[in-house]
Amino acid sequence: MDMLVIRGGMPLRGTLAVSGAKNAALPIMAAALAADGPVVLHNVPDLVDVTTLARVLESLGMSVIQDGSGRIELETLSHDPCLADYELVRRMRASVCVLGPLLGRRKRACVSLPGGCNIGHRPIDLHLKGLRALGAEISIERGYVFARAERLRGAQIYLGGPFGSTVTGTCNVMSAAVFAEGVTTISAAACEPEVIDVGNFLNGLGARIQGLGTPVLTIEGVERLHGGEHTVIPDRIEAATLLMAAAITGGSLRLTNVCREHLAGVLDVLTATGAELEFAPDCLRISRPGPLRPADITALPYPGIPTDVQAQFTALLAVAQGISIVTDKVFPDRFLHIPELMRLGASIRREGASAILQGVPQLSGTSVMASDLRASAALVLAALAAEGETVVRRIYHLDRGYDRLERKLNAIGAEIRRVEDRPENMPASLQLSADELPPPTADCSDGPPPPKFLSRSPGVRHAE
Ligand code: EPZ
Repeated sequence: MDMLVIRGGMPLRGTLAVSGAKNAALPIMAAALAADGPVVLHNVPDLVDVTTLARVLESLGMSVIQDGSGRIELETLSHDPCLADYELVRRMRASVCVLGPLLGRRKRACVSLPGGCNIGHRPIDLHLKGLRALGAEISIERGYVFARAERLRGAQIYLGGPFGSTVTGTCNVMSAAVFAEGVTTISAAACEPEVIDVGNFLNGLGARIQGLGTPVLTIEGVERLHGGEHTVIPDRIEAATLLMAAAITGGSLRLTNVCREHLAGVLDVLTATGAELEFAPDCLRISRPGPLRPADITALPYPGIPTDVQAQFTALLAVAQGISIVTDKVFPDRFLHIPELMRLGASIRREGASAILQGVPQLSGTSVMASDLRASAALVLAALAAEGETVVRRIYHLDRGYDRLERKLNAIGAEIRRVEDRPENMPASLQLSADELPPPTADCSDGPPPPKFLSRSPGVRHAE
């Protein structure tokens, strides 16, 4: 298992290219199951989750060829397999995206229920509601969704839930409805750019989907989908994370392969915090010459502030000059990053569904633990601004969703080392020396001498 050792305090400056969007690439790869013919995808990010999904698709009778340059070739060799096994699905929830394409093209699917998740409760009831509306028979037995349908029929489907629509649920129902007899209308469909990209991909294979990007999709069923080629959109969440890396360190960054309109809410908040933005046709530049100002943010479905940047904004606002309030209406419990940010010196308290931040002038490095993909990114951002060295552990979370993040950050002036998570790799600066400890009181002065060094990091062996 690896950890990142980050020396903070340097303003980041330079130019970076944004990778392809993880949350578009994954459902698009799954939707390739619906194609009768070869599919070639470009600008696919190099991520653990992409590799995991490739394994799932291979187990479902697909050939998946990655050439390491962001190009993936997918082709179905056999339409017989229909089982997406727990052993693979448990590693990545997005595997549930194979359910709709399997049901649409093969008329049957057996997909493991996705496991638990650190960002909150993540049911798939809306996915199943939509597929049942199309005529699928669905049961849940022994941790698996069993789905079958001799013939899917067009239907009027409402996909709204208590926290808005569902991104992967819209992708699943859309991927099945393209084969349903007649016309399907999906109301309260997700409008995220990644959903639009999946719909554009399916239309490129011969589907007839209208209304992409609006809450109402109209889908005219077709008999078959042919193969095709598609370029995945840029990753707006990675772009936001990189922009915040420049903002939190007081640096300046030029981003290429970025889609400005996908970032409207994010750019609005960054401007409110004092960042200065310049736009050119294919790039975006950010700088933060003055102090960071506080802001109140509420994560909402698109075009609101994405929940996937809420943790990163929390890190940024932790060092703003004033009080900020952060609320997440999509995943109300998505605050596992807060205790770790507080270990770095952030002053945050939970108040109902919100986090109240009292900005502090300086964070200071220590050892922290990542809990999920975007919380990892938030801890990296905080470490970039913190004084001294910070160790971020369990960064396998980070590798699932960021394409070589530390390499990108080091290319613009960060000092990040990836090392094995072993006690000897813990920086000396994170070891407490005995004279930093409170002096022994009189009644225990004859006790055993304290160990020479104590570690600030729980679970790391004390130096003798
Ligand atoms: C997608 O997850 C993204 N993942 C998530 O990104 C993202 O946070 C989320 O959308 C919201 O934008 C991928 O696209 C692979 P939802 P998804 O279904 O589709 C509730 C990341 O860090 N809900 O839109 O699983 C649900 O509990 C990941 O890249 C139901 O109630 O999210 C949540 O509160 C994390 N019933 C809300 O809706 C359902 O059937 C939004 O969930 C489905 C969802």
